[in-house]
Amino acid sequence: MFNSWESLKNNCINCTKCDLCKTRTNLVFGYGNENAEVMFIGEGPGEQEDLQGKPFVGRSGKLLDSMLSEIGLNREKNIYIANIVKCRPPKNRDPLPIEQELCIDWLRNQFKLLSPKIVVAVGRIASMKIIDENIKITRDHGTFYKKKGIWFMPTIHPAAILRNMNQKPSVEQDFQKLKNKILEICSNTY
Ligand code: URA
Ligand code: SF4
Repeated sequence: MFNSWESLKNNCINCTKCDLCKTRTNLVFGYGNENAEVMFIGEGPGEQEDLQGKPFVGRSGKLLDSMLSEIGLNREKNIYIANIVKCRPPKNRDPLPIEQELCIDWLRNQFKLLSPKIVVAVGRIASMKIIDENIKITRDHGTFYKKKGIWFMPTIHPAAILRNMNQKPSVEQDFQKLKNKILEICSNTY
């Protein structure tokens, strides 16, 4: 258990718990307001994230930022963003179950320090890992799940939207639902 972001970050940054440490350029710990009420969780760093050491800074990240801004969210101001695995899987393959399992304690500690009211799982991998392994992302995105008093919502990954832009309007609906949930239960976000 860590009692500050500083100590958690300092412990995480040199992690060698799984083999992804061998191929990373930078570990991507997370980014955003450490007091945010809303947490976004992706699956893992891609090429740009690995190079810059920050989550969602490539093409997917640009799209995410634009959809966030449409509902008044901003990574500098009122959300926190992290990933299931903190180091880039080679060639952007899906993180292996064992890598996810070895890494997720870092995320659990981030979750404990943040204590968010709402968690958005970005994409299939994150949704299955943190909400329910039976989630079908095309069917269940935009649905809210309440677990231990905290609201979880799966949404489609921006990389998937970039592959098929027809999906964008329905993902924008997810974000509108998110905005409504924030207005309903959050006090410090807007
Ligand atoms: N995709 C993710 O899931 N996370 C990132 O940080 C970047 C791309
Ligand atoms: Fe450690 Fe996670 Fe990186 Fe593996 S992916 S080395 S568990 S921080």
